[in-house]
Amino acid sequence: MRAVIDILDLSLEEIMELIQTAQDIIADPDKYAHTCDRKKLATLFFEPSTRTRMSFEAAMYELGGHVISMSSAASSSAAKGESVADTAKTVSCYADIIAMRHPKEGAALVAATNASIPVINAGDGGHCHPTQTMADLLTIYREKGRFDNLTIGVCGDLKFGRTVHSLVGAMSRYPGNRFVLISPEELKLPSYVKQEHLKAKSIPYEQTTDLEKALPKLDILYMTRVQRERFFNEEDYLRLKDSYILTKEKMKLAPKNMIVMHPLPRVNEISVAVDDDPRAAYFKQVLNGKYMRMALILKMLGIHVAK
Ligand code: NCD
Repeated sequence: MRAVIDILDLSLEEIMELIQTAQDIIADPDKYAHTCDRKKLATLFFEPSTRTRMSFEAAMYELGGHVISMSSAASSSAAKGESVADTAKTVSCYADIIAMRHPKEGAALVAATNASIPVINAGDGGHCHPTQTMADLLTIYREKGRFDNLTIGVCGDLKFGRTVHSLVGAMSRYPGNRFVLISPEELKLPSYVKQEHLKAKSIPYEQTTDLEKALPKLDILYMTRVQRERFFNEEDYLRLKDSYILTKEKMKLAPKNMIVMHPLPRVNEISVAVDDDPRAAYFKQVLNGKYMRMALILKMLGIHVAK
């Protein structure tokens, strides 16, 4: 497989195959400990990251492989003016697979077009974040046991949040799902995302500014932070940053079996007191992300392990 830029690059069958591989890894990690011996993953991160980069790196180490990395744009030749295309060609000489994050939408596609090794998009600007969605999908599967007939509330910065765009795309492919889009007026889900996924597939959705009202009807609440780095001015950010804060009090309005997800990092949109609630699933997402990245690396390197 050459590239994963968008979650839609994977068919529903391929997603299920990755979920099954991830579950097999969880059940028997030793079986996978040498599957990537002598293989190298290059992590190219032109934007800040804690989880995604470390998750890819931990995933590769747990498969027995090695990691070479460019941890910041400032310390790489990008600072000298090198293009993404040239960086991708160069790194293809050193590694077997690339995971790349970049502030510009479309950068991962440019890298994939120029690299001679597989490229995974680890976030391109406000566009897509397919491997976060894989973490989200494994979490939904393990916690809810299905991908269909779910009411999914997404709350916060739906305009700039790339994890939301990818999740809406992914969950729109399963039958019976509906969305409640909770955001301030200024941070509504972009119309291209609505058009491409919700309207095109006649998925029921409502848009609201009211989290409390939405809570009782949700199976999943996906919280997100306001994406400060994508704002044009600080004033707007400061005005909108605390639009939603999920507290223990508000959780009383939510169904007993709803789960709370968040791609992290959290700023203050979920109060720390909610972490002890059995419905809080956001740290499980972190761990699930590593297993799904292990499964994806194996798939993209064409390494088959009998289940
Ligand atoms: C997300 C991202 O980078 O888009 N973080 C992550 O990878 N888990 C979410 C965010 O930064 O808000």
